[in-house]
Amino acid sequence: MKKDIGIGVIGIGMGLDLIYLNNTLDSRFEVRGLCGLPLEKVKDAGKKTGIDFTTDNYVDLINKKNIDVIIVFSPDHLHSKHIIDALNAEKHVLVTKPMVTDLGDALKIMELVEKKGLKFAVGETCRFYTSFLSIKRMLDDGDLGDIVFSEAHYLHDLREIIPRTPWRVQIPQDFMYGGCCHPVDSLVWFMGQADEVQAFGVNSHVIEGYPIEDTYLINLKFKSGKIARVLGAYGIVKQPYPMMGLTIYGTKGTATADFTDFEPSKAKVVLDKIEHKPVMEMNFDADMVGAYGQGDAMKRYMIDFENAIVNDKKPLIDAKEGVKTIAILSAAWESIRNDGKTVKVYDNF
Ligand SMILES: NC(=O)c1ccc[n+]([C@@H]2O[C@H](COP(=O)([O-])OP(=O)(O)OC[C@H]3O[C@@H](n4cnc5c(N)ncnc54)[C@H](O)[C@@H]3O)[C@@H](O)[C@H]2O)c1
Repeated sequence: MKKDIGIGVIGIGMGLDLIYLNNTLDSRFEVRGLCGLPLEKVKDAGKKTGIDFTTDNYVDLINKKNIDVIIVFSPDHLHSKHIIDALNAEKHVLVTKPMVTDLGDALKIMELVEKKGLKFAVGETCRFYTSFLSIKRMLDDGDLGDIVFSEAHYLHDLREIIPRTPWRVQIPQDFMYGGCCHPVDSLVWFMGQADEVQAFGVNSHVIEGYPIEDTYLINLKFKSGKIARVLGAYGIVKQPYPMMGLTIYGTKGTATADFTDFEPSKAKVVLDKIEHKPVMEMNFDADMVGAYGQGDAMKRYMIDFENAIVNDKKPLIDAKEGVKTIAILSAAWESIRNDGKTVKVYDNF
């Protein structure tokens, strides 16, 4: 396939995994520029990967004529600035999770995408795990009936990755956005737009120097009237069960899926119509590619985004879909800051 869609990547931690595109014959995407700090590191990455254009100034990257798409893999708090400037430079944009760390910024981006007529997507890996996709398929096919309620978790002893990514404590990373975006987005995927949120948060003091709450319980009521709960905890001693989980309780069946970085994942289901209600189990190979074992999920969302650009389609997680998750996370903070009162989720979009 002709390599005629130029990609510029901001952030060369997990972002460097996108280099696979240059050896992927059935993709029109080609990485043509890298931006990261410090300059010597990004120059070195350019040499190793054969990318000629390297810079420590993202403005130079987004203004390059042979670059059509900017992929944002910078630390979370910089996403909004990088996205907005790239859209204003007339580039399509895909951002890793979280979309942004502020609801006002998310709304600004949604309006800008609309005004510019450009493609925008959030690379939320949970929607692209084989285990999670399998239970979505069951729900869409009617196997589980109507959802009654659901629950999702993402637990991670982040002390293991902080030495490699110190910005998570220094900035600090807001784990409500940076962590809970995963389980909350999974619920939005299955249940749509939320109506009300009630949340509590505490600081575990397990992560040395982390100044705000890192452990959250979030209850949700959706526009449909259905309910769900989320557990997000990042200052924990590594839990002896999967890192991520999503369980859907339907009128015809209950299904659960899990995911842990670099480990095989599972989906299990019990269907009401099967006598004795055996637990049916599906086993999926571990994703061993890329940083944090997210390489296969990344490839799947890049296919979705390329299809959106080439065939003028809506990406799975476009700006409006991304805002639904950010609105919930913003409401959860408001609830925590008000002693756990119930907060209406912003829905005027
Ligand atoms: N499941 C997932 O999809 C997943 C997993 C892990 C991380 N992430 C997200 O990926 C992003 C990057 O995380 P990471 O673990 O790769 O971190 P990292 O620290 O390894 O990489 C961050 C990169 O951003 C660059 N950077 C920092 N400030 C910059 C600036 N002002 N201008 C340009 N570049 C700048 C750094 O030089 C570095 O290359 C974060 O938003 C994180 O939440 C997503």
